[in-house]
Amino acid sequence: MNWGIIGGTGLNQLPGLELLAREEVSTPWGAPSAALVRGRLAGRDVVFLARHGEPHRIPPHRVNYRANLWALQAAGVRRIVAVNAVGGVDAAMPPGHFCVPDDLIDYTWGREMTYFADDLEAVTHIDFTQPYSTSVRTALLDALAAVKVAYSAQGVYAATQGPRLETAAEVRRLRQDGCHIVGMTGMPEAALARELDLEYACLALVVNAAAGMDEQPISMAAIEAVMAAGMDQVRDILARVVSAG
Ligand code: HPA
Repeated sequence: MNWGIIGGTGLNQLPGLELLAREEVSTPWGAPSAALVRGRLAGRDVVFLARHGEPHRIPPHRVNYRANLWALQAAGVRRIVAVNAVGGVDAAMPPGHFCVPDDLIDYTWGREMTYFADDLEAVTHIDFTQPYSTSVRTALLDALAAVKVAYSAQGVYAATQGPRLETAAEVRRLRQDGCHIVGMTGMPEAALARELDLEYACLALVVNAAAGMDEQPISMAAIEAVMAAGMDQVRDILARVVSAG
């Protein structure tokens, strides 16, 4: 069973991935964000896709999530780790902290968020009670424990529309809603993966305290510094995940 890795902001390329082939593919839903990169990581076949394109140029609300998931499945992928840079909504999620969310709330709007819209034989409702795959989450948690980084084994991911960051009041509302981290790309990606019956989970790296939590405004330079350090750890975590099974 091939692993797929969707790289988010800070992870347009996967260091340590031995490149085998780059495939420009098309799907019934249009073109994915970038060429699929087939390679070997820790001795295992993986397919890597840069969510925002390579170079990074597609904003969260313009990502063709349907084409991305479809292309990965057509490439033989059955299990996916989605890497997401996020803001920490909960004080227990400081910059540099990892989280493997076990639930989510979707605040996005106006995105193409289902394969089940037109030309249906029957109306289809997927079960999404638990939006993330238990087996992929377990693989991630085992890897996180092994690389000895600070992480939370649970959390609620708030998917916001972006591309702007949130207001302080919006972040307060997210906290009241029970969210722990906030990002702009977790949905509809997770739901589309479920519609395709793919095993999918999220590895989130907190890169900033969400709006209004710090005295200072959110600094892109500070985010980039956390991201650069964290993405080295992401590579080690992913290598462990794929080598384990
Ligand atoms: N909000 C939304 N998305 C994000 C953030 C944030 O604070 N940080 C990184 N992605």
